[in-house]
Amino acid sequence: MTRRAALGGLALALPAARLAAAQDSAPSLSALAAQKGILFGTAVGAGRPGTLTGMLSDPRMMAIVGRECGVIVAENEMKQYVIAAQPGKLAFERGDSIANWARDHGKKLRGHTLLWNHPKYTPAWLTERYQGAPREGLATWVRDYVGGVAAHYRGRVHSWDVVNETIDPDTGELCDSLFQQKLGFDAIRIAFEAAKEQGPDAQRVYNDYMSWGSGGAKHRAGVLRLLERFRREQVPVDALGLQSHIGVGDGDNATREREWRAFVDAVTDMGYRLLITEFDVNDRGAPADPARRDAEVAAVGKGYLDMMLSYRTLDHLLCWGLVDRYSWLQGFTPREDKLPQRPLPYDARYRPKPLRQAIADALIAAPSRAAA
Ligand code: XIL
Repeated sequence: MTRRAALGGLALALPAARLAAAQDSAPSLSALAAQKGILFGTAVGAGRPGTLTGMLSDPRMMAIVGRECGVIVAENEMKQYVIAAQPGKLAFERGDSIANWARDHGKKLRGHTLLWNHPKYTPAWLTERYQGAPREGLATWVRDYVGGVAAHYRGRVHSWDVVNETIDPDTGELCDSLFQQKLGFDAIRIAFEAAKEQGPDAQRVYNDYMSWGSGGAKHRAGVLRLLERFRREQVPVDALGLQSHIGVGDGDNATREREWRAFVDAVTDMGYRLLITEFDVNDRGAPADPARRDAEVAAVGKGYLDMMLSYRTLDHLLCWGLVDRYSWLQGFTPREDKLPQRPLPYDARYRPKPLRQAIADALIAAPSRAAA
């Protein structure tokens, strides 16, 4: 048995308090990732204290982020519905609170997201103002907005999710939104061009949640067509963000794994780099018993990460939260038995779980990115 395997076994057997203490002195996930040329981090929310998005005001939570992460991303605070909530002004206060924390703690910062082509995430005033107006008005607004935000965070955000989730998973076509209705593909093109103009040094990412789960074929095909179009029309896009909201019960099938690999291979063959931008493991498909659930979550997570980290152009691994009590899944897809979800590497009481070990093991097993 290797030393690492022995330690892994030990970790599962240790009581929680001693496990936490043991992990305090163990290398951080960020350190393990850095050894392979990967940035490890998490989303951080600056919502109301005590709510699902209230991480920034929780010192215990942020201590874990400080210890484990090399990069953070704003969970909601740099979205259009926050920054452009009111007409005529850009509100950067909430985004800045995340950016300032990153700066003060020596962390890198990803930006999420400049254009979310979805009615639900588009400020109502924007739809009212531009729906019936000539298209040029909205085109100018998109250019100014994206450019304005990219300029504000220039030199601070090193990688932007410029466009988020613009493929309708049911059809594989562009989502039906204000931007889509008025501008079609031009909305997306304008966003990437404005991001490049105002933040030329930041990586530009198209981010989406197409998955390896069943039923994702149309979504994946639509994303591939979009990425091909970017290349054909020379839209300046550097990478695909794989959100990676995976789940117990959707990833253990060899056919799905083969189809997912074919998708990722097609993306890298076009010259795109890869990022895991929002990793978590939905446990709705797992039994109630916490130990069994944690084991299944860890096994599914490890399988996915082993596969994805084998791609040497994948150099970011971000979780969508680190501590279960702050996972968006508690509200988005609650379990049928009403028990809280356990989708993240730390439990609701801030104790590391088997998923943390699975992430560490996957990072240790990953090939170095140095040659990529
Ligand atoms: C989620 C946040 O976690 C929630 O707080 C918010 O209410 C909705 O958005 N894909 C994305 C993220 O790109 O922005 C989403 O974040 C999760 C799914």
